[in-house]
Amino acid sequence: MKLTLKVWRQKNAADAGRFETYEANDISEHMSFLEMLDVVNEELTLKGEDPVAFDSDCREGICGMCGFVINGVAHGPRRGTTVCQLHLRKFRDGDVIYIEPWRARAFPLIKDLVVDRSAFDRIIAAGGYVSVPAGSAPDGNVILVPKENADIAMDAAACIGCGACVAACPNASASLFTGAKITHLGVLPQGQPERYERALRMVAQASAENFGSCANIGECEAVCPKEIKLEVIARMNRDFLKASWTSRGASAPAGGE
Ligand code: SF4
Ligand code: FES
Repeated sequence: MKLTLKVWRQKNAADAGRFETYEANDISEHMSFLEMLDVVNEELTLKGEDPVAFDSDCREGICGMCGFVINGVAHGPRRGTTVCQLHLRKFRDGDVIYIEPWRARAFPLIKDLVVDRSAFDRIIAAGGYVSVPAGSAPDGNVILVPKENADIAMDAAACIGCGACVAACPNASASLFTGAKITHLGVLPQGQPERYERALRMVAQASAENFGSCANIGECEAVCPKEIKLEVIARMNRDFLKASWTSRGASAPAGGE
């Protein structure tokens, strides 16, 4: 198949940036989107031109490194799929495809399709861990976890930190990511000692990183390659409110698992 690519090229954050047009010829529909970009880059390199910079690592949808906007949609047209797992059979011969980086103040551009997502690392460093002395690994089933909570924690832990939720949100909010990270520890017994402190610190860090607030639009859930649900944001808000009330000496509202 033959594709026309309109790719965002930008040398660095100070450069104005612009779309450049590239033809991708003799492309197999079985290739992944990134393999197609590899072919384009090989041709650019052979011509002595600068290849398009983009992030990738595992190319199996599990590491969270890849990600850019394809025809206006973060990670492209296939729901629940990272761009490395997107195959060209989702496109038609002769298609014109626009490719752009994540655009958010908290994700400054490094080059072309690569942005700096270290703000996510700092949110994790603010509380996305368990630091209580837990001793050596206990025998299986010593700590009983209700099946429902195990499922909620497992689903939230599927977040790969790709940043598509931020890129899709009109407010560039990191609430789906932060909510997922707060949830996956907060509903497990091991996460209880620091549960509310964790919510306070991680939400404060997200705010300090210049991510916007959640306005319940839901674009994040629609593009998330791991199909993280908006419920994690509700749980984050509940834990945050409970922590705020408690730190002010007020009695916290009841509820929440
Ligand atoms: S919540 Fe989804 S879209 Fe956001 S960082 Fe995690 S995996 Fe990516
Ligand atoms: S390269 Fe690892 S998720 Fe895409």
